[in-house]
Amino acid sequence: MTERAQRRIEELRKQIDGHNIRYYVYDSPTISDAEYDALMRELEALESEHPELVTPDSPTQRVGAEPQSKLATISRRVPMLSLANAMYEKELRAFDERVLRESARSGPIEYLCEPKLDGLAVELTYEDGRFVQGSTRGDGITGEDITVNLRTIPAIPLRLHTDAEIPGLLEVRGEVFMNRADFDALNIQRAEAGEPLFANPRNSAAGSLRQLDSRITASRPLRIYCYGSGRVEGMTFTSQQQFLEVLPQWGIPVNPEYRLCQGVEQVLTFYHELEDRRGSLPYDIDGLVVKVNDFALQVELGERSRSPRWAIAGKFKAQQATTVVEDIEASVGRTGAVTPVAHLRPVNVGGVTVSRATLHNQDEIDRKDVRIGDTVQVQRAGDVIPEVVQVVTEKRPAGTKPYRLPSHCPVCGHDLYRPPEEVVTRCVNLACPAQVQGRFQHFVSKGAMDIDGLGEKIVEKLITTGKVQSVVDIYKLSFDDLVALEIERTVHLKDEGPTQKMVALGDKVATKLLAAIEASRETTFARLIYALGIRNVGEHLARVLERAFNGDMERFLHATRDELEAVHELGPIVADGILRFVEDESNVAIIKELIRAGINWARPEGTEPAAAPLEGQTFVFTGTLERLTRAEAEAMVERLGGRAASSVSSKTSYVVAGPGAGSKLDKARELGVSVISEEEFLNLVPGNS
Ligand code: IVH
Repeated sequence: MTERAQRRIEELRKQIDGHNIRYYVYDSPTISDAEYDALMRELEALESEHPELVTPDSPTQRVGAEPQSKLATISRRVPMLSLANAMYEKELRAFDERVLRESARSGPIEYLCEPKLDGLAVELTYEDGRFVQGSTRGDGITGEDITVNLRTIPAIPLRLHTDAEIPGLLEVRGEVFMNRADFDALNIQRAEAGEPLFANPRNSAAGSLRQLDSRITASRPLRIYCYGSGRVEGMTFTSQQQFLEVLPQWGIPVNPEYRLCQGVEQVLTFYHELEDRRGSLPYDIDGLVVKVNDFALQVELGERSRSPRWAIAGKFKAQQATTVVEDIEASVGRTGAVTPVAHLRPVNVGGVTVSRATLHNQDEIDRKDVRIGDTVQVQRAGDVIPEVVQVVTEKRPAGTKPYRLPSHCPVCGHDLYRPPEEVVTRCVNLACPAQVQGRFQHFVSKGAMDIDGLGEKIVEKLITTGKVQSVVDIYKLSFDDLVALEIERTVHLKDEGPTQKMVALGDKVATKLLAAIEASRETTFARLIYALGIRNVGEHLARVLERAFNGDMERFLHATRDELEAVHELGPIVADGILRFVEDESNVAIIKELIRAGINWARPEGTEPAAAPLEGQTFVFTGTLERLTRAEAEAMVERLGGRAASSVSSKTSYVVAGPGAGSKLDKARELGVSVISEEEFLNLVPGNS
């Protein structure tokens, strides 16, 4: 029994480690999040049945138990150096000339160039392939011991992949960072929880890593890319390129955006190329690191006290600028949330003209004390909405007042309300035109009904002219309704330059729009659910609901709280939002009207509505399945109207037990629940017997 469990545990650990590598090192996952979770759950279950088989390098052992009282210091044998900075082309050329001179080479030098990530430098120590220690850079010689925090980062392997030969000792260095999208989501979460916001992904990564409680670190979406080494025993490398090629084979992530360049001209080409692409990378970079590729030449060139002579950082121009806040507008979104937006004197930030920046909420305005008339520093990071970093208080004109959000909705005049524990102020009038417009815009957006060409201006005009009042009216629009609709457009007149004019949509645009509306009738259950704008139900959860309810609208509309909360990934808050939505009769009426207007969707995977043979039955899977993965089996149950649960109770209809089944099987026997094999389960399912 234990032997079998041990085998399965090791197999699961291997699979999970492999999936981590495919996800974090090669950016090409081969299974869904749900399938990954199922593997983790199975491993957790097995390990809790066999605590003696738990090892520190098991993927279940990432989160430490007890918070520390302070971070210990470590000292290292090979100091972590820093990099000299080169500003722009001229200094990169000077660097190359120096390398050529000092090395007495005549031909072009081979450089390995890497993006300079803006995060926190760390060192990871592996002994015989096991991750044993991790630390911050600190002053280079002494750093802080953050082993327990680094263990929580899923991209860091707790043991090296050993298909390739591994060194006995490996000190590998890299940068811990956060993707901008993850950073934005984290800040939104923090704003909702009333917690102070992080200024940028770098601060947020650094703050997350230096926690005393590793459970906090574990909840933060940290990543790592490695680029250097400390001490390595039992293996030697001849070049940076060779080193970067080996790391991924051990499961250690390396930023794939590196390039081998022959001579300084190729370096400069890459430098400019990367600066142009900067905004489209998922993470922040602030320059290009240029390293002499050949390790022998590196040794020859040597080091200064704090930085090597064989490397340099070519910095990019800052994506910050200073400008003036001309006004602050309270903008009302589709959920009624009121966001203060600064109107700025237009300024060029990293190649983009910025004229607006978000101020987030009243608390953030108070914290930064941003006032109309202030000179402020603004910052743009790729596709993130620009934001005000800080006020240049020395430049504040006389007579300014602290800014306060209005007490009434600037759009409809209704009272604004800020619940005591929240940071968000809302207009509570559901009929507020700003909200109506926002809901329409969301309804037609790409991830929702995806009506191409139905832009902001057209939607606004349709609403103000009364042509649409409810989203259903979109499907009743005729060619005549659209063709004469007048929209403000910028037209280029010969002598006057660009001018704003009211222009009718015309035949061509109207025909195209009608076709787009027509095409959107055929949709998916998930798109429709997302389009409805239920609180906290984004595109992902909409798909989860589609699967859980098998695309059956009636079942969804009549779901009970228990049924909703039983859906994997749905918590009480989301369930609450859904219940509030479906309990409102006008919402149900809109859904029914949409269906009457021809909105239709196919059942996921083509099962017919009547095919719900497992309705009312609850299944628990335990042990190893041979023909299906756990996730496939659970999805199958849900598709056929049944429920897949993770623990056994008297309400469980069947426990499906495979080899290695443990406590769940005992529990089932104790409660008298029917226990069946995978074979027998498949026989219950139509089409499988
Ligand atoms: S190499 C001796 N490579 O930049 C070489 N550093 O200013 C020292 N950094 O402390 C580091 N990306 O935090 C290197 N691809 C990269 C890097 C990188 C970011 C950071 C790192 C270091 C700082 C040096």
